[in-house]
Amino acid sequence: MTLDLDFVRRQFPALSGDWVFMDNAGGSQVLSRVADRISDYLLTSNVQTGATYEPSQRSTERVRKARRAFAGFVNAADAGEIVMGASTTMLIRLLSEAMTGRLQPGDEIIVTNTDHESNIGPWLKHEARGVAIKVWRCNPETLELELDDLRGLLTERTRLVAVTHASNILGTINDIPAIADVVHQAGAELCVDAVAYAPHRAIDVRALGCDYYIFSAYKVFGPHFAVMWGRKEKLAGLDNIYHYFFSKDSVPHKLEPGNINYELAHGSVGAIDYVAELGRMAGANEGRPAIEAGFADIAEQERALTERLLDFLKSRNSIRIWGRPGSGIAERVATVSFTAGERNSKEIVDRVDPHKIGIRHGDFYARRLVEDLGLMQQAGVVRVSMVHYNTLDEVDRLIAALEPAL
Ligand SMILES: Cc1ncc(COP(=O)(O)O)c(C=O)c1O
Repeated sequence: MTLDLDFVRRQFPALSGDWVFMDNAGGSQVLSRVADRISDYLLTSNVQTGATYEPSQRSTERVRKARRAFAGFVNAADAGEIVMGASTTMLIRLLSEAMTGRLQPGDEIIVTNTDHESNIGPWLKHEARGVAIKVWRCNPETLELELDDLRGLLTERTRLVAVTHASNILGTINDIPAIADVVHQAGAELCVDAVAYAPHRAIDVRALGCDYYIFSAYKVFGPHFAVMWGRKEKLAGLDNIYHYFFSKDSVPHKLEPGNINYELAHGSVGAIDYVAELGRMAGANEGRPAIEAGFADIAEQERALTERLLDFLKSRNSIRIWGRPGSGIAERVATVSFTAGERNSKEIVDRVDPHKIGIRHGDFYARRLVEDLGLMQQAGVVRVSMVHYNTLDEVDRLIAALEPAL
């Protein structure tokens, strides 16, 4: 274990205060280097990109570098596979819009009941045009999305399956390569919401085998900004949703209507540099090895935090953990949700707030899951969502605050 927690925490100015932040799946703290880069962009290169004059060329180059950095972050084959946007919700809306031309009445789309609404709602809009929507439900006992159930839903009319890489409530990591195989055998495409996964593990879109992959930078130590990776030939096949004079081949720009946010694109690169720096501190070489090594250390720290919290929760008879009980790195991320008998989850969180520990209750916009689990009437689940900058001492502080509240 090589993660230098003193170094890590110094990179996040907000962590020097007295609050414990454990609502990171809602939004992480931001790195000072990200804020510095945003400021620097605005103060030194804030002109429109694409012109011939030198300052414009500089800002163009900064945005180009950001696209390249995101390509490296997800191990894309080409920076042209990176679409940038305001949020994951907006990018999936735009992706859905760009599929309009190819979807015919009688076609089918499969969504899950474990996803955030961002990867469900945008697909439902095609129902009005005669596209059938099917729901891949998790096993109500195990809370697992089972491949056999997916196989049973796929037909030759299935065009797309939309699934989350990690559930923002259960923390469960879904086996995307296995899902991608099943989906592709049926001739459909796979769209993956990676928002709840991206802060925790290295992403390799080529190994994952999906077609579209979307996440938000503000959960990965950056600003409110988001990125979609799409397989080059898949992006090329989408409708142009920008001005009429953009061609279908104008990838990714035909999928980025309006100017993207240049300063946030430039700022986000700071988060990628940070993960790579962690990897270099662990002895890895520049580039992809550094990203992977950085996330290996992040994953190990998160595993230790998760284990400590899960051990406590498992020791309490009244607690039901919603998600996998193990803390294995391949099994789950450090997002842990639970309920205490029939207790109202808000009451539990209200008892923790005065201890200056930020956790949260609710459905987290994965409302269909919380409804299906029958938890709406008790104000959803209590969710503790940790990232690598949290410490074992903080988990102990949380446990001490939770103990009398349970
Ligand atoms: C799993 C998941 N998907 C999508 C979103 C939506 O992201 P954004 O706020 O960037 O639209 C969230 C936000 O909490 C999320 O947790």
